[in-house]
Amino acid sequence: MLRLHVIVGSTRETRAAERVFQWIDRRARAHGAFEVTLLDLREWPLPMFAEHFGTLGDPAAPTYSDPVVKRWNQTIAEGDAFIFITPEYNHSFSGVLKNAIDNVWASFAFRNKPVGMVSYSSGAVGGARAVEQLALVAIETELVPLRNSVLVAAVGGAFDDDGEPVNPASDAAATVLLDDLEWWGNALAVARANGVLPPGVRRFRELVAEAQARVQAGTP
Ligand SMILES: Cc1cc2nc3c(=O)[nH]c(=O)nc-3n(C[C@H](O)[C@H](O)[C@H](O)COP(=O)(O)O)c2cc1C
Repeated sequence: MLRLHVIVGSTRETRAAERVFQWIDRRARAHGAFEVTLLDLREWPLPMFAEHFGTLGDPAAPTYSDPVVKRWNQTIAEGDAFIFITPEYNHSFSGVLKNAIDNVWASFAFRNKPVGMVSYSSGAVGGARAVEQLALVAIETELVPLRNSVLVAAVGGAFDDDGEPVNPASDAAATVLLDDLEWWGNALAVARANGVLPPGVRRFRELVAEAQARVQAGTP
């Protein structure tokens, strides 16, 4: 079974996230393809990202500046697929989610794994702008962001008393997202098992160093 990590990117008291993540968590568990772990950032007191090579420790088994950062990187590494749940704040995703993503540093733990986005807002577009920006950040971490996402508009009235979405389109979008995560999760798990390229940033550095050495040696 694919290990699906659902990251809840809202932490403030009174958050509207509650109903959104409980619903997505239920749907993901009922889907059948996933072993689901809920990573509520309220329960992950990550420091504001401030790691550097001095705090990393042994690069082969980084200790970081704080045990929680190490545990966070290890937990992310255990995932095969991810869902990011985020509110829309100022036409973007939440700062606490960005910080949690930034704290996955030097471990490449997100690399070559799919991520689906679930956003919500009190506005009419359900966090579409947050999802667009989050996809760009996901690419940089070498996650594979999926095309289909779940947008919950007017979140205050989006769920009934049982916590079920009032708009049937919400469930349809969640099913599409989970099916895509299953397909991409399996495809990328096979691809990773067949061997991965070293991170592009390392290959680039090596190629540049080789080219510079050739220039210095005067060889073409
Ligand atoms: C700092 C802040 C910025 C917000 N910016 C937007 C926005 O750009 N678009 C929007 O539709 N709603 C916006 N809202 C409304 C939120 O989408 C809404 O309050 C939502 O419930 C936030 O999620 P949370 O309750 O889990 O924190 C904003 C709310 C806050 C607190």
